[in-house]
Amino acid sequence: MSNEPRFVILIGPPASGKGTQAARLCQLLNIPHVASGDLFREHLKNKTELGLKAGAYMERGELVPDEITIGMVMERLSRPDCAAGALLDGFPRTIAQAEALDRVLAERGHRIAAVLYIKVPDQVLIERVSGRRICRTCGESYHIKFNPPQVPGVCDRDGGELYQRDDDKEETVRKRLQVYREQTDPLVAYYRQQGILAEINGDQPIDAVTAELRAALAASSCTRV
Ligand code: AP5
Ligand code: MG
Repeated sequence: MSNEPRFVILIGPPASGKGTQAARLCQLLNIPHVASGDLFREHLKNKTELGLKAGAYMERGELVPDEITIGMVMERLSRPDCAAGALLDGFPRTIAQAEALDRVLAERGHRIAAVLYIKVPDQVLIERVSGRRICRTCGESYHIKFNPPQVPGVCDRDGGELYQRDDDKEETVRKRLQVYREQTDPLVAYYRQQGILAEINGDQPIDAVTAELRAALAASSCTRV
């Protein structure tokens, strides 16, 4: 059994289920969840300079510029808990980010074990976003219809208050989808070419998606699932 760190990437459009599945896969793989959107929201909550800069882009449904995003994620990956690897959710999102990640991992003697691409049709994404609720404390994702908490408005994990994200308004979501198609979709070909991409049908119940993701991880070099 290899002890090589496992860096796994989740790619998919807004509301495809990256956060929902990441919470499950991180437990299985015993690696931290590194979600660029969550990191930005944490900065925003703490009113840091980075958070205030990022917030303006997020509110419009645009990508935060690469020079801000890459530095923030690389700093997170250099912390001790990522020595065993990490599950990256929402990063990389541009070719420049993917190249920066390849470079930094290579410098550390590491590589990407698998890229899991969660595919979901657009009309399903809009429905998911409108019912999504997020825990203010731990960031856990719920859905009022598809994945409701035990007590409405309260997180099952830590009792935190559930809220609706500011960028989940239908108009902003359409912009996020357009940005995804233009700037993030090219990453699918980038990783397919490297032979590390697995395509997952995200338009099925949450447990079925998890099962497909686990099978893809087992078939990759990430064998300790
Ligand atoms: P980010 O937070 O990454 O948002 P996103 O990619 O748009 O994805 P979401 O978090 O909206 O969706 P998800 O795939 O995690 O779905 P979830 O599991 O919650 O980014 C936000 C913003 O930050 C960006 O717009 C940008 O401005 C900035 N940013 C972030 N990273 C950046 C980067 N690298 N570069 C530049 N800018 C960056 O599920 C959605 C809903 O569906 C939930 O309600 C859930 O319960 C439900 N659901 C999940 N799975 C299923 C299922 N199988 N069936 C039914 N319902 C389901
Ligand atoms: Mg998310």
